[in-house]
Amino acid sequence: MTAVPVARTRPESAVVAEATRRRTFAVISHPDAGKSTLTEALALHAQVIGQAGAVHGKGDRRGTVSDWMDLERDRGISVTSAALQFAYRDTVINLLDTPGHADFSEDTYRVLAAVDCAVMLLDAAKGLEPQTLKLFDVCRHRGIPIITVVNKWDRPGLAALELMDEIQTRIQLKPTPLTWPVGEAGDFRGVLDRATGGFIRFSRTAGGVTRAPEEHLTADEASAQEGAAWTTAVEESELLELSEQDFNAETFLAGTSTPVLFASAFLNFGVGQLLDRIVDLAPAPSPRLSVSEVERPLDAPFSAFVFKVQAGMDRAHRDRLAYVRVCSGVFERGMVVTHSTSGRPFATKYAQQVFGRERSTIDRAYPGDVVGLVNAAALQVGDSLYVDEAVTYPPIPSFAPEHFVVVRAKDSGKYKQFRRGITQLEQEGVIQVLRSDLRGDQAPVLAAVGPMQFEVAEHRLAGEMSSPVVLDRLEYTTARRTEAEFVPALNSIPGVEVLERGDGVLLALIRDKWRLGTIRREHPEILLETLVAGGAE
Ligand code: G4P
Repeated sequence: MTAVPVARTRPESAVVAEATRRRTFAVISHPDAGKSTLTEALALHAQVIGQAGAVHGKGDRRGTVSDWMDLERDRGISVTSAALQFAYRDTVINLLDTPGHADFSEDTYRVLAAVDCAVMLLDAAKGLEPQTLKLFDVCRHRGIPIITVVNKWDRPGLAALELMDEIQTRIQLKPTPLTWPVGEAGDFRGVLDRATGGFIRFSRTAGGVTRAPEEHLTADEASAQEGAAWTTAVEESELLELSEQDFNAETFLAGTSTPVLFASAFLNFGVGQLLDRIVDLAPAPSPRLSVSEVERPLDAPFSAFVFKVQAGMDRAHRDRLAYVRVCSGVFERGMVVTHSTSGRPFATKYAQQVFGRERSTIDRAYPGDVVGLVNAAALQVGDSLYVDEAVTYPPIPSFAPEHFVVVRAKDSGKYKQFRRGITQLEQEGVIQVLRSDLRGDQAPVLAAVGPMQFEVAEHRLAGEMSSPVVLDRLEYTTARRTEAEFVPALNSIPGVEVLERGDGVLLALIRDKWRLGTIRREHPEILLETLVAGGAE
């Protein structure tokens, strides 16, 4: 991992200067749009790695360093990474990893709480896909500006103007292309740079594993060499201009327009443009609002919040990492911070950066950076940490679960391990745990946004926590928040059951939407509130 030079002048101003040169973002996409490939290409372009394939360990270079990764490899999912940090031009880029599979959309939501910008990656042949739409909604909800990348332009796909139409009509986001492809999908020659009117020509490298060379040509040279493909690109770009689809910083930051780039992550085409645009356009970290809506200045004493907790990543260590995003001040490894939830001190002796199989020690971090705190048994997703002046950042809301199972220890002699394991998974946010007096502690209900979360829970309980379990599916498909006064009435309705989630929220599990409709009609007085939707709400 590239060492990032740090300024050592006056501490207050240095923090703001360091924050200003940070760009913290995540790539969101439907599975298979090319997120891992793009991540590799970005790292390659910034020369963090020598060859594509090194970060995620694709193909035969893929390694197994944890129990997790066996499961990840078998199922083709990625849940262990955190953030890749690298220096590019005069900035420090933090690329936060998001799980690719829709079943882990709650984790993605948490990661999005920690970024300042998102890159929405589309497959040129498929356009907007269900998971893209869902993730886009999350970004809109959080007010995160989005840069759109149309990927796989080296393969046949939809017409570029058609894709722009789709973005505009389906998600009401005005696309403002920064580059425009020269050559239709499947015949990717390069891009028209709409700001300069020049042509950026890409050339292939063997297997796309090294940085693709770029050649900059004038419009006249492009016209002479590319002929009709160039003319079409120019004409289409003019059409965009007529419909006022030129970049607008204000609407981009407000989340109502999206700059668009065309790329082939696989061939490393257009990746340099993306990095440059992230540096030039994506917002730097800004002061974050506390739960009481007070802004904590960037150069206030250190503060951060936990957006992800992960355990069982390393067979040898069985450690637990809490990933925090720094919001203000300087993090220095070894400093003692206060855990806002408990008021207790937390020593940060071990601090790491984790991406793919790579782990390295972090000694110092600034606003926008991600730090993995080791042995963080007390820290949970959403918790705040600070020094000096107290601050609590808003909690990260939990999603409405849509899948439910009853979980029991297979071996009743292992009840202690079972309880400990369930609590740990709950604290990490792997799964929601629901309890009620009726069901008792021996057989709580696990609730998930996607069923693959159960697989992860089952796998980890059996392996790492030595407590094999039996899961029994429950027939509920939806959950609504309610209040204690409505519990007796709800529990008396067939196909409804109220349980308490770990965060104290009372959830009414309901068999189906039809039943929900009936209850709403027949008992309008009962509170049945919709939670943040991860799924089909
Ligand atoms: P994901 O993380 O979003 O799920 O997608 P990933 O990068 O794994 O890419 C999914 C598939 O799409 C991979 O092919 C990858 O090589 C291919 N791909 C990604 N970007 C491009 C691109 O720009 N052009 C083309 N033509 N293909 C692209 P695969 O066959 O499923 O896997 P692999 O064997 O290549 O790893």
